[in-house]
Amino acid sequence: MSALVIEGLSRNFGGLRALSNVSFSVEAGERRLIIGPNGAGKTTLFNLLSGVFKASSGRISLFGRDVTGLSMHERARMGLARTFQITNLFPRLSVMDNLLIALQAGAPGAFSLTRRMRDQTVLHAQADALLNQWGLASIAMRAAREISYGEQRQVDLILAMAMQPRVLLLDEPMAGLSAAEVVRVTGMIRSLPREMTILLIEHDMDVAFELADRIAVLHQGCLIAEGDGPTIRAHPQVSEIYLGVE
Ligand SMILES: Nc1ncnc2c1ncn2[C@@H]1O[C@H](COP(=O)(O)OP(=O)(O)OP(=O)(O)O)[C@@H](O)[C@H]1O
Ligand SMILES: [Mg+2]
Repeated sequence: MSALVIEGLSRNFGGLRALSNVSFSVEAGERRLIIGPNGAGKTTLFNLLSGVFKASSGRISLFGRDVTGLSMHERARMGLARTFQITNLFPRLSVMDNLLIALQAGAPGAFSLTRRMRDQTVLHAQADALLNQWGLASIAMRAAREISYGEQRQVDLILAMAMQPRVLLLDEPMAGLSAAEVVRVTGMIRSLPREMTILLIEHDMDVAFELADRIAVLHQGCLIAEGDGPTIRAHPQVSEIYLGVE
């Protein structure tokens, strides 16, 4: 079954066509990399998929259901989660509180007052487990703005994973990380449940090829190539415009 079907998706900003008639599908459990030069429309694609922006035209289906007209929150409720290119943490709150807010938002019956007290204990235990699992327990009580940029990006990723989404959109989770942190975050993404569908925007080609089942290449708003690693490596237009090979 396709997790995601995108048909003729376009988005204009004034006179600029940021995304132009893009169609592709992503199978359930697939790890799909989105690559392309700066300004290619990668983040715009994620903004349309998650419902941050409305499409100018085209259609988006999530697990067979047309979600084109649904809000961001309705799509999140259907199991879509994302990270942002810029960190999305509450800067003054602790890492733990940021995580509790994300877990609270994702918990069933999150807004039921009668369940709130019991939920708090459960959520705390979940948050502890997640921070331990990813080796970040030592920064749990520190304010998000005080931890390193690399740690912030890892917490961002944990927040999105904590929602246990069916489809996870990751916008350049490795950007600005040290080489050691890239290895760590690559490992985190690789260890996600295999049934989780992952779309990942990535600039580092080595990371992209290592994680991808399939790759989609955007250029100036258009989908110019799609396929597995070897297909994309061998694609002449991709080499020309993206890899800088003459
Ligand atoms: N909210 C917006 N308003 C106006 N123009 C926008 C908006 N968002 C994106 N654009 C424009 O759309 C084009 C695609 O931008 P987008 O951010 O999707 O590119 P990208 O592939 O994510 O690039 P990068 O690799 O730099 O993150 C760019 O020309 C950008 O300036
Ligand atoms: Mg972007």
